[in-house]
Amino acid sequence: MSDAPLIEAVGLHTYYGASHVLHGIDLTLRRGETVALLGRNGMGKTTLLRSLLGLTPARRGEIRIEGIPMIGARADRIARAGIAYVPEGRGIFPTLSVRENMVLAARPGAWDLDRVLAVFPRLAQRLNHGGGQISGGEQQMLAIGRALVMNPKAILLDEITEGLAPLVAREIWSIISLIRQSGIAAIIVDRNLAQISGIAERLLIMVNGRLVLSGTPAELKTHSDLRRYLSL
Ligand SMILES: Nc1ncnc2c1ncn2[C@@H]1O[C@H](COP(=O)(O)OP(=O)(O)OP(=O)(O)O)[C@@H](O)[C@H]1O
Ligand SMILES: [Mg+2]
Repeated sequence: MSDAPLIEAVGLHTYYGASHVLHGIDLTLRRGETVALLGRNGMGKTTLLRSLLGLTPARRGEIRIEGIPMIGARADRIARAGIAYVPEGRGIFPTLSVRENMVLAARPGAWDLDRVLAVFPRLAQRLNHGGGQISGGEQQMLAIGRALVMNPKAILLDEITEGLAPLVAREIWSIISLIRQSGIAAIIVDRNLAQISGIAERLLIMVNGRLVLSGTPAELKTHSDLRRYLSL
């Protein structure tokens, strides 16, 4: 089992009621690998992340984490298997303090509260503030910090630089590099093709619930369809 991919999805089909959104997704994430998931609005990127996490379960297909079948598994089991999520809109608890938000998520491992606070000194100054009282950029840092203290094998990041001031976004990108260097795998959804191309080993392009193109940033840079798929 130990050489199985970290996440392996085969033939995923996901629906919202009668609406068929994911049409047979095959995706592999190796240990420590950083993959970008790109596509225009409404193409199904968030739905794919949520399907991998068991939050919007796929109706058909297979998901294995380190070789163990996870289709039908509840989201908490997938989280315990080491897959963390930083959702669009951050998903932190606004009435709990910054410290409580992190302590509640923490699991033993290399990333403890002190290490996260060393990476995000702004959070260290806000530990006793409510999660809902801090700025948008700080909330985003808290959401990432909370994922890190879970000591996951992979983090799925959904548009986490969206709407942030450029300076804060830059800080978040440097944290994403740090996550990569620390050996945690990642699937990153982001609109910034230039930034993501500097970090991801592979790009996956999604159109209408299908992965239509994949390759290294260098391979796709000159691909004639890339800009059309992304409406650039
Ligand atoms: N809760 C829901 N109920 C019904 N339809 C939904 C729901 N969430 C998303 N959809 C639809 O599923 C499709 C894929 O949406 P999804 O949010 O996965 O796309 P996305 O690629 O993440 O888009 P964006 O770039 O805007 O975040 C869209 O047509 C969307 O309208
Ligand atoms: Mg989305």
